Amino acid sequence: MCAARPELVRLRLARLPLLALGLASLGAGVWGGLLRLPVAVPTPGLAGGWLLWHGPLMVCCFLGTVIGLERAVGLQMWWPYGAPILTAAGALGLIGGAPGPAPVVLLTLGSAWYAAVAWRIVGIQAEKFTIIMAVGATAWTASNLLWLGGRAVFELVPWWVAFLGLTIIGERLDLGRFQKRPAWAVPVLLVILGVMAAGVGVTLVRPAAGERLLGAGLVLAAVWLARFDIARTTVRHPGQPRFMAVCLLAGYVWMAAAGAMLVAFAPLQAGLRYDAALHSFFLGFVFSMIFGHAPVIFPAVLVLPPFFTPAFYGHVVVLHAGLALRVVGDLAGWVPARQWGGAIGGVALALFLANTVRAVVRALTAPKPTARK
Ligand code: HEM
Repeated sequence: MCAARPELVRLRLARLPLLALGLASLGAGVWGGLLRLPVAVPTPGLAGGWLLWHGPLMVCCFLGTVIGLERAVGLQMWWPYGAPILTAAGALGLIGGAPGPAPVVLLTLGSAWYAAVAWRIVGIQAEKFTIIMAVGATAWTASNLLWLGGRAVFELVPWWVAFLGLTIIGERLDLGRFQKRPAWAVPVLLVILGVMAAGVGVTLVRPAAGERLLGAGLVLAAVWLARFDIARTTVRHPGQPRFMAVCLLAGYVWMAAAGAMLVAFAPLQAGLRYDAALHSFFLGFVFSMIFGHAPVIFPAVLVLPPFFTPAFYGHVVVLHAGLALRVVGDLAGWVPARQWGGAIGGVALALFLANTVRAVVRALTAPKPTARK
């Protein structure tokens, strides 16, 4: 045990710069998002273009890097680290205001590398959940190619929804593999995912029809997850299982809300309804999933024992309360509610980081259990 410790420390240290660049993207992204609400936050002198790149910073730089890192850690091989290294370099370029298309090229290469990793995993383990995640990774690469080809950010959003939606649904299917379900459940899910994928493709030629199809797929996927995810059972178990289940179930409600708004309001390109639908998915669904899985994923990446404290409910409650206020403000045209709700969302993310760092420090400094004779 003692002999392995310096190796573990080296491994943690090697991952830290990538994690740090991912988190810097999150910070820069939230900053840019607050300015767009608009909320009066300072605009630093170094603000090259990065304040404009809120969506890409959140999805490609933060989530792309963290997801690529988590996959590389899980595989325990060196080459999958190419994906988060490239996306972290792209993030650095975007935040540092690198000229020309270099940051987008790096992000595109990083996403293609990640897709290669995801399809390699299919080669190792050809299961439905690995294929779903690989299709999600491919959607991310496609979005970056569209970006390089000159498409606007709002045209990339359906592809990002597919990337994150399929990645998370694949993950949930994996975790519920040994759960008893009726024989028709998974085939029905595959049809629903097909509807989502078709919707994303159709947005290229008929944006309104494509977004409606994607939205319908999201509503159906949320209903499927709420019905068949193991969270319905684990919500009755105390401690960390209940915490995770609460986050998952709340996330499914937001996913259904996002889908319903897409169906009702498509096509969406900017403005209040765009804000409501997008953040119901990205903050309400995706961040609820991140909050739920963080007490397991962060320790895995940093080689620590799993951690959970009831204080984690703090950032969850603030996130959902802030988002509910923001969406009500968006849909009612009540701008102060949207601004307060957006700012409260920023507070929730800061609280999440603070609670996580506190838990990491506590786990690192906790006395080692002594071996019993
Ligand atoms: C509290 C945190 C956040 C704030 C304050 C915020 C704020 C905003 C604002 C004001 C917009 C412009 C909407 C419009 O057109 O009126 C926007 C767009 C967007 N947001 Fe957020 N956001 C936050 C979190 C997130 C997260 C976590 C994600 C993704 C994981 C995300 C992804 C996006 C995307 C993709 C767009 C569209 C970008 C575009 O069309 O240029 N946001 N956000």
